[in-house]
Amino acid sequence: MPNDSQYVEILQSKAITEIQSCSNLKDLEELSHRYIGKKGELTLLLRSLGTLDEKERKKIGQKANKAREMFEREFAKKKQHLIMHEFESGEQDEWIDITAPGAKLPKGHLHPLTQIQREAKEIFQSMGFALADGPEIESEWYNFDALNIPASHPARDMWDTFWLKEPENSKQNLLSGTAILKEKPQKFLLRTHTSPVQIRYMEKIKPPLRVIAPGRIFRYEATDARHEINFYQLEGLMIGKDVSAAHFKGIIQEFFKRFFEKETVVRLRPSYFPFVEPGFEVDMRCVFCAGKGFSINKEGQKKDCSSCGHGGWIEIMGAGMVHPNVLKAVKCDPKEWQGFAFGIGLDRLAMMKYKINDIRLLYSGDMRFLEQF
Ligand code: DAH
Repeated sequence: MPNDSQYVEILQSKAITEIQSCSNLKDLEELSHRYIGKKGELTLLLRSLGTLDEKERKKIGQKANKAREMFEREFAKKKQHLIMHEFESGEQDEWIDITAPGAKLPKGHLHPLTQIQREAKEIFQSMGFALADGPEIESEWYNFDALNIPASHPARDMWDTFWLKEPENSKQNLLSGTAILKEKPQKFLLRTHTSPVQIRYMEKIKPPLRVIAPGRIFRYEATDARHEINFYQLEGLMIGKDVSAAHFKGIIQEFFKRFFEKETVVRLRPSYFPFVEPGFEVDMRCVFCAGKGFSINKEGQKKDCSSCGHGGWIEIMGAGMVHPNVLKAVKCDPKEWQGFAFGIGLDRLAMMKYKINDIRLLYSGDMRFLEQF
């Protein structure tokens, strides 16, 4: 085996010339075999380096490696060129079956939460509700005070809050808003619920009104299968001269019936939220086991319903009759106007509809999960 560096150069230029003058893919493959195949000339040269002394090995080794790299580069270039040429000139001997079904292109789709949000919006809009929006960075006034939760109120503990650092010039407010906002420097936070949109909406629109406001909210809490630091809510508000809790029950029952495409029943349990009086927790009769708490499988065995944890009812949202102090905060006379408000957890709805057992999956960005919807 010649082992001087001149030999490497000769081999390299011979190989490159041959590649360049090659006129078809078959010959090109054969060339590759001859030079860098198992017993190819370049391969054997590289293998023989071990027999040289160290100084020689380094010198010739470098050259030989460069020659191989160059061969591979030229080979790839030529191959591309020949493929294009054969394709354009119709010379390829590959047969194309034009009747074969085409390869399916992967198609994107909406995130399950977006789908749920759109469905919910459509149902409420068909019942005459307008759509409103509010900022995710909210002031203390809108998120708490105006909703009848003053600074010292223990109910503030109901919402674990991400407070934002004070702006450098705290008189210069990030958000435009009410007279109170302008007078008093505000603290800012990531909104802990969509309820502040009630206030923002009523500042602009006078009753009678009905509106929904879906959106992202934030909670400063540890995550687990049922909790995330951000999730989605849909706020609802209806104000009129004689709007009652019975109207609320009818509307929300109709909503669930259309959303789950199954007949259902709703029950209200007394509960406390500072911005409503009375306030209630809303339970929906489990649409999966029709309130029985169990299902019977094919073998005739009783199985606990996993959706309602065999209780037959699912706690689904908070609601109530709007507190007079909330109406006063937007200069609306509570003697003249009344109505209801509610807040539904959209993640909860998605989890129930699709039987998802961990809220974190919704935010994981994991395509194996998302492609199922
Ligand atoms: N904002 C409440 C929460 O995040 C949910 C809620 C309860 C909204 C009662 C309402 C309501 O409008 O009336 O926990």
